[in-house]
Amino acid sequence: MSTKEIETNAIKMVAAGKGILAADESDGTIKKRFDSINVPSTEENRRSYREMLFTTKGVEDFISGVILFDETLRQSAQDGTPFPTLLAGLGILPGIKVDKGAKPLAGAPGETVTEGLDGLRDRLKEYYGLGARFTKWRGVINIGEGLPTSYAIEANAHALARFAALSQEASLVPIVEPEVLMDGGHSIETCHEASEATFKCVFDELSKQRVLLEGMILKPNMVLSGKDCPSRAGVEEVAEQTLRCLRSAVPEGVPGIAFLSGGQTDEEATAHLNALNATGPHPWELSFSYGRALQAPALKAWVGEASNVPLAQKVLYHRAKCNGSARSGSYSTAMEKEGVAV
Ligand code: 13P
Repeated sequence: MSTKEIETNAIKMVAAGKGILAADESDGTIKKRFDSINVPSTEENRRSYREMLFTTKGVEDFISGVILFDETLRQSAQDGTPFPTLLAGLGILPGIKVDKGAKPLAGAPGETVTEGLDGLRDRLKEYYGLGARFTKWRGVINIGEGLPTSYAIEANAHALARFAALSQEASLVPIVEPEVLMDGGHSIETCHEASEATFKCVFDELSKQRVLLEGMILKPNMVLSGKDCPSRAGVEEVAEQTLRCLRSAVPEGVPGIAFLSGGQTDEEATAHLNALNATGPHPWELSFSYGRALQAPALKAWVGEASNVPLAQKVLYHRAKCNGSARSGSYSTAMEKEGVAV
């Protein structure tokens, strides 16, 4: 393990004005996204969609790293340049999702644990050789009647820490992603309680398993009302509750926190990040690692047509720029007028 390498790359991942593009949709998830625009999920369509994202001119001004899926890490642009080489050439760190998805947790109805630890050490070695410099693992926590249980939180925290320790051993920066889902009609207070319990348990496990805090990034959910909550909390309250939760659970040694968007609309996710940064300074960089909130409008603009690539790239560039501004609290909804309507 190179401590210096992982510490340096962790800092690069949360560089000022930039964040991470999560483009690591598994085969099942990308199929769902393509179904929404009536595009068949073939290997070539997946490749050309990702090429559209990665070759967006100037995107490197706002994107520090891209999370890839196994298939994408091995694919190339049309001119034959492997994607990891293309990204590295732009000064963007290539990363890789290494978990194998959330599976039902035995004895815990309605809860899951993430799989993928078996053989991980060997896979990490290969990924480093293919150019990856960071990794991601997502643990999923459900809110519901009597949920989450401490059993599910502990099982997921344990797996996240095992993944993180193995990644650092292989000189890869782990993105530790505990996601408390926003599905349900729960209040923001309920989300706060579940998130705080989860993040505390995760850092307890990370400490037990000797994970170097300076060489990792936390990718949490924001503290939000449930999607179906009748009176959803506003932007200021989300920022306030999220900060309160993070302050009580996240040690200062962690260089950065890069939020997932988790089903927020693209503009909501930007406004929330902006409000979080408007109240700084904070002990950690507060950044983004968005999938849907960065890609959704670009996907809609693209709809699988090569002739739409320039428009889709404009749309992606605009979202990346808005989130880049939100990194310093300097985003305003007026910026949205500069965007292209899709
Ligand atoms: P979303 O921003 O769409 O939640 O995706 C982020 C991610 O990487 C989920 O694992």
